[in-house]
Amino acid sequence: MSDQANSLRTPIVAVLGHVDHGKTSLLDKIRGSAVSDGEAGAITQHIGATAVPLETISEMAGSLVQPTDFDLPGLLFIDTPGHHSFSTLRARGGALADIAILVVDVNDGFQPQTEEAIDILQRTGTPFVVAANKVDTTPGWNPVEDSPIKPSYDGQSDSARSRLDENLYELIGQLSDRDFSADFYWRVQNFQNNIGVVPCSALTGEGVPDILAVLMGLSQRFMKAEMEIDVEGPGEGTVLEVKDQQGFGATLDVVVYDGIIREGDTIVVGASDEPIVTEVRALLQPRPNAEIRVEKRFERVESVGAAAGVKIAAPDLDKAIAGAPVRVVRDRSEDEVIAEVKAELAEIEVDTQEEGVVVKADTLGSLEAMANALEEAEIPILRAEVGDIAPRDVAVAGTAREVENKTILGFNVDVLPNAERELEQSDVRLFDDDVIYQLVEEYDEYVEEMKR
Ligand code: GTP
Ligand code: MG
Repeated sequence: MSDQANSLRTPIVAVLGHVDHGKTSLLDKIRGSAVSDGEAGAITQHIGATAVPLETISEMAGSLVQPTDFDLPGLLFIDTPGHHSFSTLRARGGALADIAILVVDVNDGFQPQTEEAIDILQRTGTPFVVAANKVDTTPGWNPVEDSPIKPSYDGQSDSARSRLDENLYELIGQLSDRDFSADFYWRVQNFQNNIGVVPCSALTGEGVPDILAVLMGLSQRFMKAEMEIDVEGPGEGTVLEVKDQQGFGATLDVVVYDGIIREGDTIVVGASDEPIVTEVRALLQPRPNAEIRVEKRFERVESVGAAAGVKIAAPDLDKAIAGAPVRVVRDRSEDEVIAEVKAELAEIEVDTQEEGVVVKADTLGSLEAMANALEEAEIPILRAEVGDIAPRDVAVAGTAREVENKTILGFNVDVLPNAERELEQSDVRLFDDDVIYQLVEEYDEYVEEMKR
């Protein structure tokens, strides 16, 4: 899809939800069915991302998606591990994803990471559909493989359907508690004002055609204006991850959301100190249909156009940070692009005080989310940075005057071995968690406890 000259960019779809609720399975179903249908060549897998062309979507969705109704090239799905903050998925101060699927296990309902996903969808105003997954586990359920959900739902026994309804109404209630008016998707007339809930199973494929249909509808209606971009312009993207790749050193997994990146391009990348200016040595994509996370061999490509996932190999990338912007310089002055990257980073800069706690997070997006949560809880911040917990952080936290501030709050980060030693020998407390509000709560409780 990336080399297809099309004036409309592929919409980016984030797949969000609590651990084990079925995000990857849902994507596997979308990929897998297409493959078994002999569509292997038509599916392009990228870094943490899967591009699914319109023809494949319409084939899977059957009568629900007529390709002639759409002029979008397809959809780019981004899987987010449940334990990892998808707040990495930001771009230009907003959401990187154009639309989202919130996957919720119908039996489990809302869980901490579901709440966290809702927070960010709300904050960024990202349109989304709810995949009420695992309907096949409803007692008495009679599966209809790969069917649209309505006929399958209508064909269930009364008792199976009412058990499922109970769970679905619970879910609709939880959405309404969060100020979203939601309903069974087939009753939703206006997807702009209402959230569609699609009962589905990533295992049996029921409801998957419906999810694709709703996503296409959402993209087509609300995104079209934004999709008409200069697809030939200098590439812009967001760093998903900084990874060591054998033979290349530090590389970047990037989602390109605008323009084109070519081998040899000069790029500017947001980093822990000054932006990095470097030259693209290689652009790497996983082989089609290889498992992304275990993929070791990559195919080298000359250019990548939006929207796509790609691994960028270039010198001096080790200080790059997840969530940071990547911009191609082409036809502009380098200084201008550096200033742009700095401006974008400044937007996310956290307000710090003379006295407060030390915050470490895995990505710029999660650091921003942490800072917002702490501000709401009126907890002052002395220093906030992306990265694992280092001895320097322990030293800085130790300089706080108030005992309660001699604290490091770590979100999705590791403690470096030498920092571990420092921690043991100091009076600095460490709190770590992979759910932001739980982390803030734990710290709050600790402060309350101390005041007693
Ligand atoms: P993380 O990436 O760890 O956050 O999890 P995930 O949301 O990607 O969940 P994953 O797809 O790995 O699924 C978790 C488990 O649920 C696996 O054992 C799946 O086989 C199972 N599962 C997922 N979807 C369904 C479904 O629709 N029905 C049933 N019965 N099991 C499912
Ligand atoms: Mg997963």
